[in-house]
Amino acid sequence: LNDMGQDLKSVLVTEEEIKTRLAELAAEIDADYAGRDLLLVGVLKGAVMVMADLARELHHSCEMDWMAVSSYGAGTTSSGVVRILMDLDIDISGRNVLIVEDVIDSGLTLSWLVGNLRSRGPASVEVCAMVRKELALDVELDVRYVGFDLPNEFIVGYGLDYAEKYRNLPFIGTLAPHMYS
Ligand code: PRP
Ligand code: MN
Ligand code: MG
Repeated sequence: LNDMGQDLKSVLVTEEEIKTRLAELAAEIDADYAGRDLLLVGVLKGAVMVMADLARELHHSCEMDWMAVSSYGAGTTSSGVVRILMDLDIDISGRNVLIVEDVIDSGLTLSWLVGNLRSRGPASVEVCAMVRKELALDVELDVRYVGFDLPNEFIVGYGLDYAEKYRNLPFIGTLAPHMYS
């Protein structure tokens, strides 16, 4: 494996499975946005991997921009109050925006972000998330493109971090309990 292997319990989604799924999603996106402009908005930092790989699977010409957001308050659960650490460069009014995320956990970050971007007068706002966790299914959030629906475990890799580590794993895995207990 590699020197992070001993920190992991299991591999949930392999590098090959990610690549295959991204190609399927890209084909859907190509078809859905045919004849329309497309602006991908990646949410730093977790979305870096999926943004880079999804964009390269698309045949459709697209632009890419980035936002960095942060939930207010410490603790393990998201408060739902989000502040913008770095905003978009591009004016999205009249644009077809596709938000690209690594994971939907509580769904609070995305539901806030969708509302924020909708208020800027875009032609459309949709969401593509590599992983949707089980608990997120409760949240009122229309996610157009989902890579994988996964159980509510502590997952890392492919952009997802634990204390900023493991983002560079090319697959998605579960962290061994001894790493966070
Ligand atoms: C993580 C993840 C999503 C968000 C999902 O980002 O990348 O953006 O949390 O959580 P939610 O659905 O409960 O709101 P994080 O704030 O950890 O920043 P990061 O992307 O830099 O890791
Ligand atoms: Mn994130
Ligand atoms: Mg994080």
